[in-house]
Amino acid sequence: MTITQVESVPLVAVVGATGVQGGSVIKALTESDKPYRIRGFTRDVTKAAAETLKKQGVEMVTVNLVVENKEAVYKAFSGADYAFEVAEGIMLIDAAKAAGVKGIVWSGLVSVKELSGGKYTKVQQFDGKAVVTAHGRASGVPFATVQAGLYASSFRTNPMMLAKQPDGTYAIPLIVKPTTVIPIIHMENDYGLYVRRALELPAFPDGVDVYTGGENITLGEMARQLSELTGKTVVYKQIPIEEFIKPFLALGLPLHIIEAVVEAFQFWEEFGYCGGQISTASKEGLARLPQTWAEFVKSADWSKALA
Ligand SMILES: NC(=O)c1ccc[n+]([C@@H]2O[C@H](COP(=O)([O-])OP(=O)(O)OC[C@H]3O[C@@H](n4cnc5c(N)ncnc54)[C@H](OP(=O)(O)O)[C@@H]3O)[C@@H](O)[C@H]2O)c1
Repeated sequence: MTITQVESVPLVAVVGATGVQGGSVIKALTESDKPYRIRGFTRDVTKAAAETLKKQGVEMVTVNLVVENKEAVYKAFSGADYAFEVAEGIMLIDAAKAAGVKGIVWSGLVSVKELSGGKYTKVQQFDGKAVVTAHGRASGVPFATVQAGLYASSFRTNPMMLAKQPDGTYAIPLIVKPTTVIPIIHMENDYGLYVRRALELPAFPDGVDVYTGGENITLGEMARQLSELTGKTVVYKQIPIEEFIKPFLALGLPLHIIEAVVEAFQFWEEFGYCGGQISTASKEGLARLPQTWAEFVKSADWSKALA
């Protein structure tokens, strides 16, 4: 535990501190032998996750990171040396810059629109982050992206990713070929390792895109390993788009969100998750190795997902 209040050590401002990504960053910095001050942002400092972080020595600050709240957002960054964020983009970069931070680590993703040559234009969850990346690169502040792979936990918690079949067996029922390669990551446990490495390099990795992942693995192989390691029958099942979107429509999700999910899978199948960029996440220099899919499967509780 190296979280301190000593003013001479770097202050890292973590947006989304109570969430998966921010939580993973704090976990990794806490594991470091280097000391940090950590400021975590939340909309509610009284929630359980915020209380837990406070007990670990994190300075928890209430701020609603929306553009209508610009003044408070700027204030929230004051005195920070580094900034990490998951939520609100451009304003946060401007606020971090105004605070005079030495570096910004942004949880960016590739531009699907650009890398697909305009074929897929609806993957807002990627393209929006890429727009923010461009803003960050132009900001003049040392700026690095640490790009999230696909959350391994989605397969445990999201019934769209792993579903019980009428015959009592299980399937990963998605619209792409089983040979589609995914950089899978145990986000809660391992994402922060990459952010920590960026912060602890001798020089801040300005301009660098860091890809994260325990391994690159095909969806078919994920199903095979899940089956082998849990003893349950799990197969990968490529299904038509109409079948895939049925539960989304039943939930009343807006069309643009459904299209964003569909096109994301199509992009990953056709261009790769990182769109032909080097998607192999380098593990060199990480404080510990991130989990492979098999290691995640072994360490996780599947009693509900495979009930
Ligand atoms: N699922 C995947 O496989 C995958 C892959 C790549 C990237 N991603 C990306 O991951 C991101 C989600 O990150 P996550 O998993 O860390 O999310 P999360 O666990 O849901 O956490 C969201 C965090 O953002 C904070 N937050 C939300 N709105 C806020 C506001 N207005 N002001 C201040 N704080 C706010 C929340 O804090 P409080 O609630 O405490 O205020 C919380 O800490 C998404 O952008 C998604 O596109 C997901």
